[in-house]
Amino acid sequence: MPPTSQTKPSPVKLYDFHPPVEDFRSAVLRGLSQPQKTLSPKFLYDKRGSELFDAICQLPEYYLTRTEMAILRTYAEDVAAALDHRVLVELGSGSSQKIRILLDAAPQVTTYVGVDISRQHLQEACAALMQDFGGLDAIAVCADYTQPLPIAAIPELQNRPTIGFFPGSSIGNLEPAEVISFLKTVAVLGDLIVGVDLKKSAAILEPAYDDAQGVSAAFALNVLERINRELGADFDLTQFEYRAHYNEDQGRIEMAIASLCDQTVRLGNAEISFRQGETLRTEHSYKYTVDEFQLLAMEAGFKPVQVWTDENQLFSLHHLKQI
Ligand SMILES: C[S@@+](CC[C@H](N)C(=O)[O-])C[C@H]1O[C@@H](n2cnc3c(N)ncnc32)[C@H](O)[C@@H]1O
Repeated sequence: MPPTSQTKPSPVKLYDFHPPVEDFRSAVLRGLSQPQKTLSPKFLYDKRGSELFDAICQLPEYYLTRTEMAILRTYAEDVAAALDHRVLVELGSGSSQKIRILLDAAPQVTTYVGVDISRQHLQEACAALMQDFGGLDAIAVCADYTQPLPIAAIPELQNRPTIGFFPGSSIGNLEPAEVISFLKTVAVLGDLIVGVDLKKSAAILEPAYDDAQGVSAAFALNVLERINRELGADFDLTQFEYRAHYNEDQGRIEMAIASLCDQTVRLGNAEISFRQGETLRTEHSYKYTVDEFQLLAMEAGFKPVQVWTDENQLFSLHHLKQI
């Protein structure tokens, strides 16, 4: 689909490749008709979902954001050197908070491209960057990063060296085999800086994904509200509950919404039945050792040149070079 580009009312240039509502409808219907009902985590991020994710980042249990930011602060100069003068392309940029640490340390970077599926949040984040970093050109690309990046339709990315930044452990949402094909796809950006959550005990992991205040639960259940609102379904949110479990054998947190009773939900003309206890999978979040992730990167054709971690070995930041 050709992009729509707009410059008003925001000063941020937006290239919009966002899939239409009909794609959301067919993806939801397809996901809900599988034996294991499943929704892609990308659908968690409407405007409200993005706000709830920002709230999760502030939670005491959610060590990921503060640890990755601490790593970035500690090694800002090294990471800035890796960026060189390239156009910095952030995949799944969200509120573009972490990038601020790098932009402070890398004044030579003058063009930033945020790629995210949550359009309004993305535009606001890029506008705030432009305001706070004089001389920075921040460009918003609303696109699905699991699809090939439409570089040919983004003039700012043509014939210029680029580097990809993929923080937040978002890579953990992909199945390991998908990681390899994803890395091959984004290899078009050149080198990559990737944030990867490390393996650790369930006692730390499970509260991080199911906090005491219920923000993670609200974040997951928001996808049902979104389906009600955008697709005219009638999910009764009081009849579902959120669950997060660490599957140690698979090395992943499994997040799901469980039905509290036998029930039928309407979505347009479709009827979707849930048995009591049946789950709708919303996310997997894979955890890796440094070696495990580097092996995947090498299978995808990258050379791991540097890894930065915190002193407690909670999180890792990898610099991957094109071979
Ligand atoms: C886990 S959050 C991370 C946000 C931020 N990068 C950070 O590190 O805190 C994932 C971000 O990726 C975006 N996202 C999720 N799936 C996506 C997809 N398939 N394509 C583009 N953006 C996606 C979400 O909207 C959200 O902003």
